[in-house]
Amino acid sequence: MSELKNDRYLRALLKQPVDKTPVWIMRQAGRYLPEYREVRAKAGDFMSLCSTPELACEVTLQPLRRFDLDASIIFSDILTIPDAMGLGLHFVSGEGPKFKKTISSAADVASLGVPDMEDDLGYVMDAIRLTRREIDGKVPLIGFSGSPWTLACYMVEGGSSRDFAKIKAMLFDTPELMHSLLSVLAKSVTAYLNAQIAAGAQALMLFDTWGGVLSGENYQHFSLAYMQQIISGLNKEHQGRRVPVTVFTKGGGQWLESMAEIGADALGLDWTTDIAAARQRVGDKVALQGNMDPCVLYAQPQRIETEVKTILEAYGRGSGHVFNLGHGIHPTINPDHVTALVEAVHKESVKYHQ
Ligand code: CP3
Repeated sequence: MSELKNDRYLRALLKQPVDKTPVWIMRQAGRYLPEYREVRAKAGDFMSLCSTPELACEVTLQPLRRFDLDASIIFSDILTIPDAMGLGLHFVSGEGPKFKKTISSAADVASLGVPDMEDDLGYVMDAIRLTRREIDGKVPLIGFSGSPWTLACYMVEGGSSRDFAKIKAMLFDTPELMHSLLSVLAKSVTAYLNAQIAAGAQALMLFDTWGGVLSGENYQHFSLAYMQQIISGLNKEHQGRRVPVTVFTKGGGQWLESMAEIGADALGLDWTTDIAAARQRVGDKVALQGNMDPCVLYAQPQRIETEVKTILEAYGRGSGHVFNLGHGIHPTINPDHVTALVEAVHKESVKYHQ
């Protein structure tokens, strides 16, 4: 495999010196890009796009052709694991993800097994292998998974939810059942991420999108503990390089101190967290990723640049910052505004690394 030409992202995650702050964007391959919409239309449905390695590779590379990004993320979804467990994932236009089968009883949980990474999820590994070849060392490729808690939310609720009524009833009424579901998910995610490393993922991200709906104590027991279990089961060295892990709990800003203790290399911050204070709170333990409000991209380029400067100044001097949005980019953003963001991060960050 070819040498990595730009390792700014990996270096920042390990707090090694960099020339500029690296930047990538959550959901950087997506509907805001006309070229994505074109491939998506050709693929038919979203899962066909994910499960056809040539198409998944193509849309992974699209944002790199337009923007000077410092990382790529394999095009896939967090819901591939529950789908591989037999729940029947499909997407209903305007409503998001849905499962044919949901998990509600002890028998349902008992029927779940750890999927086979090559037989059931081989399409993800094929997409990673192909993308590593095609990307030719331009930037690192990130692999990812949902956290056990976040996957369980979709599996128990059957799709997106406003109130998390079903999964919270399960958590409070039958905590042992909740734990056995999370446990099979943690084993699956560990195997999934290790398979992604073996296939060529050079960094990993755990998306804990719904950890923030829990109380502090329940967050520790039902989300954080399982992410810790996963991280301790990862093969963190591959071909002589460390594979850094970023943990992102949306709404987790008040728990950064405990998140910094689970063995992750970096924490993702949403935009409600003060990044200057976050850096003080976690000290040297972890790097930080984030955290511009995705809606800033609706503003004009000049205003975007001002916001970039504010965040860079708040993080301050030295390595350990990966610039990103505080959550995924919205489908109605003008791609030219992303160009403005990426250029501003690179231009304005040089002085913090001299
Ligand atoms: O970041 C990237 O570019 C990589 C691709 C990626 C997708 N989903 C592609 C996608 C990643 C990292 C994800 C993660 C994901 N998927 C999360 C965690 C991150 C987060 O946003 O909090 C979650 C919760 C999901 C579940 C999911 N998948 C939702 C809620 C949706 C949106 C449904 C909708 O219609 O808005 C999806 C579908 C999805 N995953 C899309 C993309 C580009 C849009 C589907 C389309 O093209 O129609």
